[in-house]
Amino acid sequence: MVEIRTGDLLLRPVDEADAARFAVLCNDIDVARNTSRIPHPYSRADADAFVAKRGAGMFGDDNEYVFAVCRDGEIIACAGAHRISPGVFEIGYWVGVDYRRRGVATRAARAVTQFAFEGLSADIATAGFFTDNPTSGRVLERVGFRRTGDIIVMHSAGRGEDVDTVRVALARKDFELSPEIVIKPAGA
Ligand SMILES: CC(C)(COP(=O)(O)OP(=O)(O)OC[C@H]1O[C@@H](n2cnc3c(N)ncnc32)[C@H](O)[C@@H]1OP(=O)(O)O)[C@@H](O)C(=O)NCCC(=O)NCCS
Repeated sequence: MVEIRTGDLLLRPVDEADAARFAVLCNDIDVARNTSRIPHPYSRADADAFVAKRGAGMFGDDNEYVFAVCRDGEIIACAGAHRISPGVFEIGYWVGVDYRRRGVATRAARAVTQFAFEGLSADIATAGFFTDNPTSGRVLERVGFRRTGDIIVMHSAGRGEDVDTVRVALARKDFELSPEIVIKPAGA
């Protein structure tokens, strides 16, 4: 289990005690509409099921690393990376409605991307954003991701429909490691 520090943000493993907070932050139509797996409305039972998936060093059974993004001890966002094929990690994130437009997503996305390269030995990081969510596209661009040219159809549980999704990618050689992002064993 690792944690990542970047400035005043701490990305730490998700804990079972986090369910109540996730139930509040995820019950947001913007989070549901712009991600693939978060339903709306989002219940406490949904949050309980989410936190219960976390395991020793990884989340779920698919090399999925999910971090609670905290500031001053409070969860304000979530970000993660999961392996979609050997050497390739997909990153994702959302930010609580009261904490947006302060650079949180950009810093959290950069942190999990660096974790994928530095901590998980990824060769390539990938991500996707729905065509009607250009804000997230700009977040990814600031981190260094570039469009692959592919637009695929992904299902959004929150919308209950398929959505055109812009695919982006970033090779390890094109990512500059930031000394401000510090990855270490959780709690050390
Ligand atoms: C998309 C999302 C993650 C962006 O999170 P965020 O923390 O607001 O992102 P950032 O603050 O890093 O960037 C957003 C904008 O705020 C601006 N910003 C950053 N710091 C700022 C500040 N201090 N003052 C004013 N604006 C600021 C950024 O420049 C950026 O502007 P742009 O849209 O013109 O590029 C967030 O809106 C969200 O969670 N949406 C729902 C879920 C989602 O879309 N997840 C991503 C799925 S791919």
